[in-house]
Amino acid sequence: MLNLKACVRLLAILLELRGLRAQTTVVGASSSSKVIEDPASLVLPFIGTTNGGHVFPGATLPHGMIKVGMDTDSPENHGGYDADPRFKAIGFSQLHDSGTGGSIPLSNFKIFGHKDTDCSSFEKCPTSLFTRATGRRILPDGTPDDFASPGYFSTNLSNDIRVELTATRRAALHRYTFPSSVASPHMVVDITNDGQRSSRDAEMSLDPKTARVQGGATFSASFGPGSYQAFTCVDFRGEGFDLGTPVQLGVWLYDTTTTGATDLKQVHAGSGDEAGAIFGFRKAPSGPTSILARVGVSLISSQQACSNAEEEIPDFDFDRVHRDNRAEWNELLGRVQVDTTGVSEDIVKLFYSSLYRSHISPADYSGENPKWNSTEPYYDSYYCNWDTYRTLYSLLALHDPVNYARIVRAMVDIQKHEGWLPECRGATAQQWIQGGSNADPILGEFWVKFHERATALNVSGDDLYNALLADAENEPPNWNLQGRQANAWKTFNYIPHDFYDSGGDKQVSRTLEYAFGDFAISQVAKLRGNPEDAAKYVQRAGNYFNVWNPNITVPGTPSVRGMMQPRTSNGTFDYTDPRHCSIHDPEGSTCFLGGNLGGFYEGSPIIYSQYVPHDTARLLDLQGGTQSFVDRLDFIFEQKYFEPTDEPSQQMPFMYHYANRPGLSTQRSRQVIAQHFDTTVRGLPGNDDSGAMGSYAAFYLAGLYPLPATRQFLLSSPYFPSISFFNPVFNSTTTIKAIGFEGNPEDGTGGKVFVKAVSVNRKPYKSNCYLDWDVFISGSTVELTLTDDIGVTCGNGRDALPPSLSTGGYD
Ligand SMILES: *[C@@H]1O[C@H](CO)[C@@H](O)[C@H](O)[C@H]1NC(C)=O
Ligand SMILES: *[C@@H]1O[C@H](CO)[C@@H](O)[C@H](O)[C@H]1NC(C)=O
Ligand SMILES: *[C@@H]1O[C@H](CO)[C@@H](O)[C@H](O)[C@H]1NC(C)=O
Ligand SMILES: *[C@@H]1O[C@H](CO)[C@@H](O)[C@H](O)[C@H]1NC(C)=O
Ligand SMILES: *[C@@H]1O[C@H](CO)[C@@H](O)[C@H](O)[C@H]1NC(C)=O
Ligand SMILES: *[C@@H]1O[C@H](CO)[C@@H](O)[C@H](O)[C@H]1NC(C)=O
Repeated sequence: MLNLKACVRLLAILLELRGLRAQTTVVGASSSSKVIEDPASLVLPFIGTTNGGHVFPGATLPHGMIKVGMDTDSPENHGGYDADPRFKAIGFSQLHDSGTGGSIPLSNFKIFGHKDTDCSSFEKCPTSLFTRATGRRILPDGTPDDFASPGYFSTNLSNDIRVELTATRRAALHRYTFPSSVASPHMVVDITNDGQRSSRDAEMSLDPKTARVQGGATFSASFGPGSYQAFTCVDFRGEGFDLGTPVQLGVWLYDTTTTGATDLKQVHAGSGDEAGAIFGFRKAPSGPTSILARVGVSLISSQQACSNAEEEIPDFDFDRVHRDNRAEWNELLGRVQVDTTGVSEDIVKLFYSSLYRSHISPADYSGENPKWNSTEPYYDSYYCNWDTYRTLYSLLALHDPVNYARIVRAMVDIQKHEGWLPECRGATAQQWIQGGSNADPILGEFWVKFHERATALNVSGDDLYNALLADAENEPPNWNLQGRQANAWKTFNYIPHDFYDSGGDKQVSRTLEYAFGDFAISQVAKLRGNPEDAAKYVQRAGNYFNVWNPNITVPGTPSVRGMMQPRTSNGTFDYTDPRHCSIHDPEGSTCFLGGNLGGFYEGSPIIYSQYVPHDTARLLDLQGGTQSFVDRLDFIFEQKYFEPTDEPSQQMPFMYHYANRPGLSTQRSRQVIAQHFDTTVRGLPGNDDSGAMGSYAAFYLAGLYPLPATRQFLLSSPYFPSISFFNPVFNSTTTIKAIGFEGNPEDGTGGKVFVKAVSVNRKPYKSNCYLDWDVFISGSTVELTLTDDIGVTCGNGRDALPPSLSTGGYD
């Protein structure tokens, strides 16, 4: 691992040198850029924790398996928490996803504290979910008394119990502090509730001397037909005093405790029942009583849950675990440094919080895969690649290639054992796909960016390529769970609208995504020296054209002509109203999973008609040329067809680049941030989708937008006088400086934010509209000259426009 102090010192020296140089040459440039040593202090984990964001704000390591947090009785408690103070706490559970939909995922093994006065008798303690529900203390401003920062969560409950949480990779440490008035603190362990009441085959036993609880059950997946097993091992300690043996103990079922029972079998719990263990302990000899609960989790066995906890938290030292956790976050987040001069605190916090949320999922479950033994890493909680492939992995490529490589290895290992790459996997279960097999562009992105370092990163090019070919060529038994509808794709070169061979739908959006997947494969084939395959998959990457109907117009707006449309197996087009699934859909349909017969997923035909990231130049031609393309983009934004909550729209603000109008992209992307993202608990449009929205916002704020499986990033201006990315694999730092930076317009409109000229290492660059990956490999200083003229262009040279397949790009 990287030495944090050395890295920070090095950055400090570099930034200081650059600052001095800038001072002598550029009027008004900042000379005060300081290294941000504690970026964790700039992270607001509560962003998007109410109003449908479903963000998890509890304690986790970067990509940690344990995500320990508060569970509330909110119906929107997909991430456990809800910032709305009306909702009560019902426990503090150990796993979780962040920003997902489906049924509540992974709220397993809730711990809860009681005072003896909360119980009429030990046998009648409020142990069930709804009787134990306890309000949070409400602060004078009406918000709950909760706090969260990377690796730490705390709350004060209305019954005066304070709860604090921190985490290692496979174990959580909780601290429950009871008021001095408590006579006997009680601790409750819930074995069965997972957020869904789906438990079956639950087992649990407790040790009456040590109060160790071991147990587990089988639970239902969140977004698919499968299930998973999870196990726990809970130990208690007094902080600063000897907890001794419990004074009371028992097994509870709903709201009745069988005192003295030590095994769940003694209370006859069945499927879905609420059950667990309860203890009464001695209080501390003086002052408030703090009880530590160390909770190991495993997907293999409760014995392994115990050894995970013993190995990772042998000392029950809450402050040490918290400190180590935060240091890991600071090392990771600190690889991206921004100069905050003239930038509002909100923007700085929005940036680091977005970066932070890009490192919650997928999660490192290495050693916890019950399905096969392997020495490869095991990551899970992809939920879904369809959401994250567009932006999350390209952000990792810039500053966290080692985690990226481990995730790629895990995906390839899954393909080796199951036949296909994971798509929407959660807790070892295959879940419903949303579109194509979107691990393809994730692997493609990795190979394009890191093929020269693959050996050092332990990624096998042969295995990676074979995994891609399996996805592209072999039809799985159920392509609704992983892989593609490969036979139809190969036969028709689009997915026919009359084909439902697994009861599936979304044929048009899948056609577009398969085409992009095949583009990614073609890039890998080319780099592997396989021109035949490269040509074959480039050809297939052009299949998007097969669902383009040039004669369809938006009702009432004949100038917007030509749409992606469903097509039947005999080659004739079906008709789906271009407004279908948009806010202007006369039928008010939605395009979520299931029963969505128009052919599109989470986006209207209007939106999908802009989705050919690898060949936007041809799309521009199909749409009638430059002016008509710009007019169509304006129409999409002005008429509110742009859909900030769903990923297929993410690239849209940047598409003006391809019409040589990058100023319009800069303004649109900044308006999107101003209108849809902020630092409040409601600060996200829709679900965060496992970091899809976090990584997207981070890119917009950095003034970049990625094109996965290519060597290009589209370029705009950052929200900072400078931003730098340290890449540990290349041991290089690239700094993008906005020369003439005067701040960011509040509403995203106008301002001195448009890029007039670009230089790299003081030499004029070939384009004002994109940066090649080489700039980031070698570590460069990129200087952007800003203007307030929105009419800027990409430049005049041959390579000024970003590449597209049909204009000979990517060669
Ligand atoms: C809870 O109460 C403690 C003092 O009892 C205080 O230090 C802390 O800031 C409060 N809030 C949270 C969220 O922990
Ligand atoms: C993995 O190896 C262990 C130890 O040899 C064995 O007990 C276990 O059954 C194996 N698991 C699988 C899924 O093959
Ligand atoms: C690659 O594998 C070697 C040998 O197992 C190991 O020492 C090294 O840390 C690994 N590197 C990465 C980046 O995983
Ligand atoms: C579009 O209209 C033209 C002119 O009427 C016609 O030749 C062409 O076949 C139509 N294309 C489709 C896909 O309907
Ligand atoms: C093509 O298939 C569609 C849907 O099955 C049908 O309505 C149409 O008549 C067919 N057209 C031709 C030319 O066979
Ligand atoms: C990384 O780069 C720095 C300075 O650029 C150098 O001092 C250091 O030795 C390099 N580290 C490695 C592992 O090459």
